[in-house]
Amino acid sequence: MKLSVPGRVTATAVVAAASLLVGGSIAGAAPAPAVAAAPDIPLANVKAHLTQLQSIATANGGNRAHGRAGYRASLDYVKARLDAAGYTTAIQQFTSSGRTGYNLIADWPGGDTDQVVMAGSHLDSVISGAGINDNGSGSAAVLETALAVSRANLQPTKHLRFAWWGAEELGLVGSRHYVNTLSSTDRSKITGYLNFDMIGSPNPGYFVYDDDPAIEKTFKDYFTGLGVPTEIETEGDGRSDHAPFKSAGVPVGGLFTGASRAKTAAQAAKWGGTSGQAFDRCYHSSCDTTSNINDTALDRNSDAVAHAVWELSS
Ligand code: TRP
Ligand code: CA
Ligand code: ZN
Repeated sequence: MKLSVPGRVTATAVVAAASLLVGGSIAGAAPAPAVAAAPDIPLANVKAHLTQLQSIATANGGNRAHGRAGYRASLDYVKARLDAAGYTTAIQQFTSSGRTGYNLIADWPGGDTDQVVMAGSHLDSVISGAGINDNGSGSAAVLETALAVSRANLQPTKHLRFAWWGAEELGLVGSRHYVNTLSSTDRSKITGYLNFDMIGSPNPGYFVYDDDPAIEKTFKDYFTGLGVPTEIETEGDGRSDHAPFKSAGVPVGGLFTGASRAKTAAQAAKWGGTSGQAFDRCYHSSCDTTSNINDTALDRNSDAVAHAVWELSS
């Protein structure tokens, strides 16, 4: 074949390329995927965010709780990374239990703003600990996915919006505030909300929320591709920030690796780990530090976050 001049396509090249196309796919090859594959999210990057969140907690009385300095420092860390990556960020303020709380909302410029795909996680911890699995894990995975969108200069069909919620531990306060302050028009434009709360549990299970079927399938297919069996999440449906979205009629989904419930023998047989022991023995405790993370679970789930964001926004 004649080589084309860079920046131009020669008539010869067009004819040659067209002759390879049969029914929209290249003859003899598998059909081209409709969507560019999501990148592999580097575990080291996700863990670096957890190290930063741990340092923030350590420097601020051991926690990153609503109304405390460690929460605002966590938010400032995430916001700075997003601003540097080209996001349009906004801080939404609210009051709960007499203290000021904040949500962080980050929009990736472009895409059809009549079709918005959201991914979010709560950024606050309980007062008793640093909250690295609950929920540094989801916060770091969503942050690193947002940064990967920027690195790829992704130009999705739909508009992408990422969120970090305040005061989840006080009863889903930040996410409910966000949903309640949206106009019904803006609410109806959200085609899906993906929630990530606890995705690196030290004795992990692989749980997918049993909610919107298309979102659920996107996650399940990803884990099937890894050869990792999943189960439906049942440890407290409605106990995280997807609940206000779901109540408002937004399709939701998400991932979870387990909290205080014990892993059964059958679960240990398929996933490894320790049966009869909690998925997260440090749930809401002072030992929820950077040591309280299963790297394999965090890596798989972070990659699944990116997979779903890529696929559902395409
Ligand atoms: N949201 C709870 C917390 O932060 C943890 C939790 C319990 C959970 N059950 C869940 C999260 C089910 C997601 C799904 O303390
Ligand atoms: Ca990875
Ligand atoms: Zn949580």
